Amino acid sequence: SAEQPLVLVSNRGPVTFDTDGSISRGTGGLVTALTGLASHRRATWIASAMGRGDADRSREAGGKAFTVDSPAGGSYDVRLVVSDEVAYERFYSIIANPMLWFIQHYLWDQSNAPDIRAHEVEAYEYGYKLVNQDLADAVVEEIEGQSEPVVMVHDYHLYLLPQMVRERRPDAFLHHFVHIPWSQSDSWRVLPTKIRNELYRGILANDIVGFHTRSYRRNFLQCCEDLLDLEVDHKRGVVHLDDREVWVRAYPLPIDAKATREVSRRARVREFEDELLRRRRDFLILRVDRADLSKNVLRGFTAFDLFLEQHPEFAERVTFMAQLMPSRTDVPEYREYLERIEALVAVVNHRHGTPDWMPIQLKLRDDLEEAMAAYRHYDVHIVNAMFDGMNLVAKEGPMVNERDGVSILSENTGAHEELGEFALTVNPFDVQSLANAIHRALTMSGEEREHRITGLRETITRRDPGDWIDEQLADIRRKDEGGSADA
Ligand code: G6P
Repeated sequence: SAEQPLVLVSNRGPVTFDTDGSISRGTGGLVTALTGLASHRRATWIASAMGRGDADRSREAGGKAFTVDSPAGGSYDVRLVVSDEVAYERFYSIIANPMLWFIQHYLWDQSNAPDIRAHEVEAYEYGYKLVNQDLADAVVEEIEGQSEPVVMVHDYHLYLLPQMVRERRPDAFLHHFVHIPWSQSDSWRVLPTKIRNELYRGILANDIVGFHTRSYRRNFLQCCEDLLDLEVDHKRGVVHLDDREVWVRAYPLPIDAKATREVSRRARVREFEDELLRRRRDFLILRVDRADLSKNVLRGFTAFDLFLEQHPEFAERVTFMAQLMPSRTDVPEYREYLERIEALVAVVNHRHGTPDWMPIQLKLRDDLEEAMAAYRHYDVHIVNAMFDGMNLVAKEGPMVNERDGVSILSENTGAHEELGEFALTVNPFDVQSLANAIHRALTMSGEEREHRITGLRETITRRDPGDWIDEQLADIRRKDEGGSADA
């Protein structure tokens, strides 16, 4: 079966087609991870048609797989699945986001949950389920004729899909990687029991479930015990279900450092750098994120506000540049969040700014090359997410930076499990600790900065995306051959 292409399935595909046929790369860690995967292995990548342009392109290909060249490099066999528009909207903008995303990032407002429950049950039954079924059908069709196919399922959009595939292809090897945190068991209790059980039964139809960190793995095992009363072997990372074993594993996602550096050398990056250097103050603080509530953007600006208040000697000497890519803007919570961000930036700029100094520079757009230019020249890089599955930005910045910039990193990110030793750790809810970290970073000796960024780079380049895939394929092989779960 080594000749068979892997089948990958995720909601978001490698590229998005506009209605005029032009293509752009999707943002987010999942696309980065799978793009790496698909360039290491022959793979067919099944994804949702997320807009009209995708749907047109899918119809043109008769609903089958076709080859696309990504603007980020590489080419992929992609199959885009068109779902009913209303069902898709419910799936994406009600259940996957905000509901599952919020539960798994501890953002769910429990005092509000009962008000919207009926609405959600409907969205789950006639949205989430239907889209999972559409993608499952595409998987089944794609693996027809393959013996013992391997299917790699990705993320929280597709918890029901594994069981749907398993029913029709009991011989398939199903591997599911979850790119976001797995939250502790009580956070799942806001879901109606029936829905919760179905989601867990769905994901437990996999042979292996993978996470970025040991702590998410631990939470998942604990959830299976607490919520489903299943027999769990915590040490070996095994859930016993019916007469099957589900292995639960941690595979922290690396970045492709070489590819990241190549992008940072593009001519268009240079243009942004020239502009940036012209306007540069003594110090540049940077953050680059999707405009997502979990990223904790507001507390970041509040901490900067506090820092400027407590250290007036830095007035006019430092700029905080925030490049935020608008995300999931059909979801009201995300739209409101953008408004609150803009309002707070206005307040802080008004409070501290002078006629020729704007303390916070906000850029609301998705431009990889512009971000790369800023990565090269930051003095301080802030990642203060409340909770974050991995956070690849924390790994990309230090690989490109030219100023021995200091990384400030939230202890609740997956990346912190690997990089904590060389970053300045902050508790994302403790705004004063972030203000202190900013001051410490800006006054740190050159020697210490160099020591830290060297440590970061060594850690980041220890594994690459090829290793990440190989670790998973090795486990697949081992389990398939009846090996033991002990690593
Ligand atoms: C996170 C999720 C991905 C998702 C990405 C971007 O990284 O884990 O599954 O693709 O965010 O979000 P979007 O909703 O735009 O696909």
